[in-house]
Amino acid sequence: MGAHRVLVTGGCGYIGSHQVVALLDAGHAVHIVDDLSNSTVDVLDRIERICGRRPGFTPARVQDRDALADAFAEIDADAVIHFAAFKHVRESFEKPTAYFDNNVGGLLAVVTEAERAGVRRLVFSSSGSVYGTGGSPPFVETDQPMPTNPYSFSKLLGESVLRSLVETDPRWSVAALRYFNPAGAHSSGLLGDRQKGQPTNLVPVIMEVAAGRRDGVSVFGDDFDTSDGSGVRDYVHVDDVADAHLRALDLIGERSGFHLVNIGRGEGTSVLELIERARVVTGRPIPCTVEGRKAGDVAALWADASLAATTLGHRSARSLDQILCDAWRAAQHG
Ligand code: NAD
Ligand code: WQD
Repeated sequence: MGAHRVLVTGGCGYIGSHQVVALLDAGHAVHIVDDLSNSTVDVLDRIERICGRRPGFTPARVQDRDALADAFAEIDADAVIHFAAFKHVRESFEKPTAYFDNNVGGLLAVVTEAERAGVRRLVFSSSGSVYGTGGSPPFVETDQPMPTNPYSFSKLLGESVLRSLVETDPRWSVAALRYFNPAGAHSSGLLGDRQKGQPTNLVPVIMEVAAGRRDGVSVFGDDFDTSDGSGVRDYVHVDDVADAHLRALDLIGERSGFHLVNIGRGEGTSVLELIERARVVTGRPIPCTVEGRKAGDVAALWADASLAATTLGHRSARSLDQILCDAWRAAQHG
């Protein structure tokens, strides 16, 4: 496929920054719109150090219609990847309206301005967490989603908007990628999960403990119906997630429609297994203590990743050890 001109919302964030590197490395042109609410502008320098090229950048909320329109015009975009959103499950219980406002309202602004700019190709960040309690793993795209928290509801609502849009106007072509648990970092150690505030996701927390910046990992529950009682998730390397988007861009360039695809390794790992692997990879003791379950947590969530292989030709092939090794390098890099 030829080179794309891609507007990337949330491109300074964790997954977005890895995506921008993957796009630039593949020869595409990139313009980022990010309000830096959960990232820092030095990410642009880091991207430039890795790629030797600097993406265009508009520091704005996607809800700022004028700024968004200017950004579309500046790159003369032919596609959008929409990462910009709030992503914390626990916070979404505290501020549900803020989550619907940013995650659904932000999407509406993006599709409206995209259409105004003549762009009808979009890749949307959805989440494996939409499955919630709606079945049992491995989750297939045809399973009925049953989200357990406002964050996941906001993602499901976003999918519904996009599905209806495509069904109503076949000029639109959308890939909604349901990532499971993206983790790890670029092999340079320059990028990583560098969000503002204390990390809450398991892999960054483990790395903080390994690096001596926290005393221990709290294991949220050891009484789930899983092999060792701790929660089971599908950890997928962030660079595999980025690869899936590159393929999704090609797909929506070739075929119209609404393409809903799981992105995961298709393998479940428990919290206790992950901590044990991290001890081996980092060579650090990583103490842990068992605490109560957290609200909205489900026992086990992993993907059936076969549709990604057949529709996108994508397989998330990087191993768990690779994820941990790269996350550890990034954690030490600072
Ligand atoms: P992140 O917080 O690191 O990145 C999001 C970026 O968007 C940040 O740089 C933030 O400053 C920006 N942003 C937020 N709201 C904005 C707005 N209204 N306008 C402009 N910029 C805004 O998050 P991430 O982990 O990189 O996640 C990216 C996307 O993937 C999100 O949509 C998230 O819901 C989704 N997702 C993430 C995970 C995960 O585990 N990280 C899993 C499934 C889905
Ligand atoms: C993984 C496992 C925890 C931290 C959420 C969203 C999903 C996606 C990824 C959003 C669970 C346990 C965690 C800790 C622990 N993000 N854990 N101690 O909850 O599966 O998924 O983040 O965009 O959409 O739902 O991810 O990394 O928080 O937790 O025991 O300090 O680790 O209970 O079993 P989760 P996570």
